[in-house]
Amino acid sequence: MFGLAKEINKSKAWKRLEHQAKRMRKIEMRDMFDKDPERAKKFAVGLENIFVDFSKNRIDERSFAALLNLAKEAKVAKRIEQMFAGDKINTTEHRAVLHTALRNRGNAPVYVDGRDVMPEINRVLAKIKTFSEAVRLGKFTGQTGKKLTNIVNIGIGGSDLGPKMAAEALKKYWAKDIRCYFISNIDGTACAEVLNKLDPETTLFIVCSKTFMTIETLTNAKTCRRWLVDALGEPAVAKHFVAVSTNVEKVAEFGINTDNMFEFWDFVGGRYSVWSAIGLITAIAAGYENFEKMLEGAYEMDRHFRTAEPAKNIPVVLALLSVWYGNFFGIRNHAVVPYDQYLCYLPAYLQQLVMESNGKSVGQDNKFVKYQTAPVVFGGAGTDVQHSFFQMIHQGTSVVPCDFIVPAISHNEIGEHHEILLANVLAQSEALMRGKTLQEAAAELKAAGKSKEEVARLKKYKSFKGNRPSNMMILKKIDPHALGMLVAMYEHKTFVEGVIWNINSFDQMGVELGKQMALQILPELQGNREGTKHDASTKALISLIRGLRK
Ligand code: F6P
Repeated sequence: MFGLAKEINKSKAWKRLEHQAKRMRKIEMRDMFDKDPERAKKFAVGLENIFVDFSKNRIDERSFAALLNLAKEAKVAKRIEQMFAGDKINTTEHRAVLHTALRNRGNAPVYVDGRDVMPEINRVLAKIKTFSEAVRLGKFTGQTGKKLTNIVNIGIGGSDLGPKMAAEALKKYWAKDIRCYFISNIDGTACAEVLNKLDPETTLFIVCSKTFMTIETLTNAKTCRRWLVDALGEPAVAKHFVAVSTNVEKVAEFGINTDNMFEFWDFVGGRYSVWSAIGLITAIAAGYENFEKMLEGAYEMDRHFRTAEPAKNIPVVLALLSVWYGNFFGIRNHAVVPYDQYLCYLPAYLQQLVMESNGKSVGQDNKFVKYQTAPVVFGGAGTDVQHSFFQMIHQGTSVVPCDFIVPAISHNEIGEHHEILLANVLAQSEALMRGKTLQEAAAELKAAGKSKEEVARLKKYKSFKGNRPSNMMILKKIDPHALGMLVAMYEHKTFVEGVIWNINSFDQMGVELGKQMALQILPELQGNREGTKHDASTKALISLIRGLRK
């Protein structure tokens, strides 16, 4: 049995938190910092090359203890063990959830239905190693004998966002002559703009799809196949196309030789698959050793997650803070702001991870939940986003808890760039926490020589309420190991949130309805079938578009 029998919002732990939140609403973080010189130490965890400071949150020892008690009530420790043990915790699809087995560098057996899955995982890892090295060394060449230097990942959702985020994060490690491209969107522009840049003789396509049934990916793969065959002929497919999937038959049906297929398994969710052969493009571009280091980093986070006490367990603490704001302060969003250009795709990756995993309304007890689940996640790279949505984060009417992620050392230490970047990220979190009172704003205006009237007119506009929460994650450097730790940290945070909300974080039925309806609308748009039942708006739009396309 997975999940809670009793509704979590009726538990004593939940009620206690409601009481604590009422108390904490009246307390300012800046006062807590003034009163307790130990605060920064108390609410921080350091682990190898990741340091998480969560002291700029609206918690004190009592409310934090109450949050830890909620984790106990939700049986978080037991659920963690069930996941690692291969229990079928994806209850709606009756599947184990074992992305952790993909990076199980200790190699202890992991059983699914009585079968150890590690030998299979290791076999595919060895295949990734051999193939990625052969491509990098120019031993596996294209049809005309030229080295394959343009690597194109065709996939969508987890089959795109993970590899794209990881490959970009490790760009500094790419082989000098290799370039990576990503085609995900069904919009023909996505395909055309990539293909326009490429030479078929030097291009390798990796078709990534867990199911090998996703319309966007199959349509894009067909278009790329046609482009290649037009240039180099049918036999070139075997030298320029590989597939990553769980579905051998569909890969063969598509016309990719299954010798050129890298398998993964249904115990790996799409959005958790970057550790599998879905990460092949990263292994080719950055080298297999670096791909392996990324797995090792994730493995290190896994061990921390399994063994650390809840108060010092990074994913558990981050999840509890998210529940704290979402369920006890009515906050509905969360911003992720990496201060590192190489992590620019992390927010998009986390949108899928968090919102596809936990954007649900039905609990494990088969009842509609009566509390908020996943927040809206958004973000972008700092300092860019300071010049876009940060106005709202500082002075808007919604409070947006932020995660700031920054490496102490940049891969590109040019002049003062990195110090300015570091100063900015620290300033943002301090400014959000401290704010600026009306008195402080008035004093500042006065010191700048403003008249009494101007001071009175401007002080509200210039004030900041503050008391706005953020987590600061400091990494030494964005290297493969640190990246693995960071991404695994977010995966586990998401899992713990799901456990507390008593939902299954591993299915995604909410994406189906739109897909089904698109399949109905397609022949109607093409004029091959007259309207099935649609609302008047959809009907009119179909007819308008048909008219415009005539
Ligand atoms: O958006 C739904 C979804 O199933 C995601 O969970 C998945 O990552 C994506 O589509 C792609 O699926 P596949 O890898 O099977 O093509």
